[in-house]
Amino acid sequence: MDAAELPCWREERARLFFALWPDAATAAILHRLGESARQRFGGRCMHRDTLHLTLAFIGGVPRVRIAELLELGAHVRPHAFHLALDILGEWARKHIVWAGPAQAPEPLTALADDLRRVLADAGFAIEARPFVPHVTLLRNAACATRRAPLELPVRWAVHGFVLVESKLLPSGARYEVLGRWGV
Ligand code: 2AM
Repeated sequence: MDAAELPCWREERARLFFALWPDAATAAILHRLGESARQRFGGRCMHRDTLHLTLAFIGGVPRVRIAELLELGAHVRPHAFHLALDILGEWARKHIVWAGPAQAPEPLTALADDLRRVLADAGFAIEARPFVPHVTLLRNAACATRRAPLELPVRWAVHGFVLVESKLLPSGARYEVLGRWGV
């Protein structure tokens, strides 16, 4: 088993990822979008204060390496940009409904690429699948795999990124922001 896939219930490992974290107003709009999608797909809405867009998923790493990740985050220079989430997507296999950009803006892909590069250079095993920027709105949804334009795109002014720990508890995932970097 790959080190990144080891279970994280052992205290000495943390499940980590870099992400964009919306401001409260954007999170509220996304949450309302999730609630309206739930009327159609069922499932469970992500809590308003846990909505995010993952840039680079790191997985389970020894806690002693968190300091190293904070150092890496400080070496990546984000740009401010506007992100238009104009697609409502569904992934049947993951049972999730999400919002995302039809076309990822260049500063977004550049930020994700930079993070993946510094992580790989530092020896972190990162997700090899292509980057599909999305904000998960619903889990356990009864959905197909398709995407449709959103009538009212969500405009998100991005000013930085965060390092997050995800704690998988019986009641669901709990997220804690460990580091934050702005423009
Ligand atoms: P999801 O919302 O599509 O499930 C914390 O779990 C965050 O990391 C979520 O945004 C989740 O995406 C993402 N994530 C979980 N496992 C991942 C993986 N193997 N590769 C990429 N992202 C992952």
